[in-house]
Amino acid sequence: MVVEMHAGLASDGGSKLKMLLTFVDALPTGNEEGIYYSIDLGGTNFRVLRVEVGAGSVIIGQMVEQQPIPDELTKGTTEDLFNFVALALKSFLEGENDLDGKRALGFTFSFPVRQTSVSTGSLIRWTKGFSIGDTVGKDVAQCLNEALANCGLNVRVTALVNDTVGTLALGHYYDEDTVAAIIIGSGTNACYIERTDAIIKCQGLLTNSGGMVVNMEWGNFWSSHLPRTPYDILLDEETHNRNDQGFEKMISGMYLGEIARLVLHRMALESDVFGDAADSLSNPFILSTPFLAAIREDDSPDLSEVRRILQEHLKIPDAPLKTRRLVVKVCDIVTRRAARLAAAGIAGILKKLGRDGSGVASSGRTRGQPRRTVVAIEGGLYQGYPVFREYLDEALVEILGEVARNVTLRVTEDGSGIGAALLAAVHSSNRQQQGGPI
Ligand code: BGC
Repeated sequence: MVVEMHAGLASDGGSKLKMLLTFVDALPTGNEEGIYYSIDLGGTNFRVLRVEVGAGSVIIGQMVEQQPIPDELTKGTTEDLFNFVALALKSFLEGENDLDGKRALGFTFSFPVRQTSVSTGSLIRWTKGFSIGDTVGKDVAQCLNEALANCGLNVRVTALVNDTVGTLALGHYYDEDTVAAIIIGSGTNACYIERTDAIIKCQGLLTNSGGMVVNMEWGNFWSSHLPRTPYDILLDEETHNRNDQGFEKMISGMYLGEIARLVLHRMALESDVFGDAADSLSNPFILSTPFLAAIREDDSPDLSEVRRILQEHLKIPDAPLKTRRLVVKVCDIVTRRAARLAAAGIAGILKKLGRDGSGVASSGRTRGQPRRTVVAIEGGLYQGYPVFREYLDEALVEILGEVARNVTLRVTEDGSGIGAALLAAVHSSNRQQQGGPI
């Protein structure tokens, strides 16, 4: 991971790790005041948020409206997607006075974007099952601005941010020792604060703080050291983005259930553990990750929840206890591998930052006493699946040893959206709020 991080910082295309510039060189300090808005697009759900903040890291109030993204919009046209987003914001604002007033808007767009400033950037490619051909290469902030103008709203994107960056912003707002953020939800990714002089591919990049948040896009990480199973290869073949997002396809919520399904399907073909009733196991994505989690977390002595899921969702009635145990085991292995890979990735970032206790930062400089390090983390898989969380935490301790005591993984709630609103505050045109050094 560290080698690839260096390669991605050295040149564009130098690594599968894109190490994208975010132009976020200042993070909220806690002194921001006012009302800010954000739109959060990119996971399973779509959110509109209104956040009121007061000095002293106080979130005075927040309003969140959430809805699932209709499946057809993820495969339709750019115009339809952004009109849907703009109209959702419009109906959200309709309840407010001064509908025409100017507002600062953070736009969380959780896909790889090549940014040209903090408020502009073009989509590199879709991930997580989205595939709208004509968006790639377009400035997504401009697409949203146009849709907002078309529906008569006087709101423009102030900050275009990846969900990891929003999460880092909220983490840092509460705790200045927060240096990185991880998302483990439908997709997975990480960002961290890098020194601008280490971003070799952008010579002469100056920021007031000397640092910039880098969006790693670690979902696309790959290394010849990573063992790939036949199931990973089969899964990749089923996806829209073949040969991409290899790390994500081993870790995130969009895929874990499907990996387990592929293993179970092969078992069904090569043995009689499921009897004649295993046809449904040949349906891609029939075993979703929430089911995989529920199977693994069933602690009833007769695995009754596993029986129910097999019966109702996979149409496998009467699987004997022995078979149900086997299914749990498969779900366990898939979960454990994912959690341990994510932990290894986090350890890699800490190593790059010289915070893994090896005493040497990857720049070669020896560091003193280990410092307290906070990593903000969120996403449905980490937050909603305790076994995954335990495996990840356990692996991090295993890798870091004693140093793990200085490292806190802090779960933020809605950080991707609230953090984007806070970044809109930091970067709003009147800039009363300057943000703080990073
Ligand atoms: C996207 C990232 C995003 C992550 C988590 C990945 O598929 O490429 O930009 O941060 O999912 O939502």
